[in-house]
Amino acid sequence: MTASHSRRHVQPAAPAAAEGLWSDDEVEVPLPGGDVTDGVVRVGDTVRRPIGPHSRLVHDVLTHLDQVGFAGSPRFLGLDAKGREVLTFVAGEVAGRPWPAWVADERRIVSVARLVRSYDDAVVTLPIPESGADPQFAAPAGTPPSVAGRAELLGHMDVTPENVVFRDAEAVALIDFDLVRPATRAEEVGNVLQWWAPLMPIEDREPVLRDVDPIARAMVIVDAYGLSDADRDLLVPVMRNAADRTWYLMKQRAEDLGGG
Ligand SMILES: Nc1ncnc2c1ncn2[C@@H]1O[C@H](COP(=O)(O)OP(=O)(O)OP(=O)(O)O)[C@@H](O)[C@H]1O
Ligand SMILES: [Mg+2]
Repeated sequence: MTASHSRRHVQPAAPAAAEGLWSDDEVEVPLPGGDVTDGVVRVGDTVRRPIGPHSRLVHDVLTHLDQVGFAGSPRFLGLDAKGREVLTFVAGEVAGRPWPAWVADERRIVSVARLVRSYDDAVVTLPIPESGADPQFAAPAGTPPSVAGRAELLGHMDVTPENVVFRDAEAVALIDFDLVRPATRAEEVGNVLQWWAPLMPIEDREPVLRDVDPIARAMVIVDAYGLSDADRDLLVPVMRNAADRTWYLMKQRAEDLGGG
């Protein structure tokens, strides 16, 4: 863990971004957050992030969210001279590592679940691209088939504390859409439960969530999302299946890319 990961980031409000107009010679401030994407920086009222094969889908999602008037995500402004995506900077508070004590607050998890619900309801009108509809597509050999059923929407599927912006202890925006993919609502809520209940082995939990009651918190999250009864019945098998499938994916990545 680096020193930069051990503080929380309180991000001051910035003046409104001038639409489509950004300078390329302003100071770049590194934004350490999660563990995956290197080179995320803030430049004025914008964030610059490296792009990859998934970025076209991410940009389609962010553009759709803007068009339907969803306020809980950054806006995609285009690519800069270095080929990076340019997003609006969302002012607020985001968890760093180790996670701050407020990750355990019940009010926070209610607002996270409501934000994810409003995201899902906003993205559901964007058609799912054909190529991404089959969960078995590009899955490593041996991966058990998905039991999630037909995808309903393009889920965020990475609702970690580092990827939610809060203001006044309320979740106001999701960021980091790199893992967007066709998903069901049960899969999306399962992802929220994994991080925020948290439904994971106690030895894997961040210290601030070691002593919470994850089942009680899971019920709060599922109720605040307003998950249907049919989807509640699917949650446990879908989450177990997702964990099994992820094991194969991580194994393949470790073999292909090295590292952990
Ligand atoms: N649009 C944004 N508005 C405000 N803050 C942002 C924005 N994008 C990123 N950040 C800040 O930068 C941090 C890192 O950004 P991001 O989550 O996009 O990448 P990452 O965490 O490195 O990627 P990954 O989660 O894949 O490891 C976030 O945790 C957040 O603190
Ligand atoms: Mg992140």
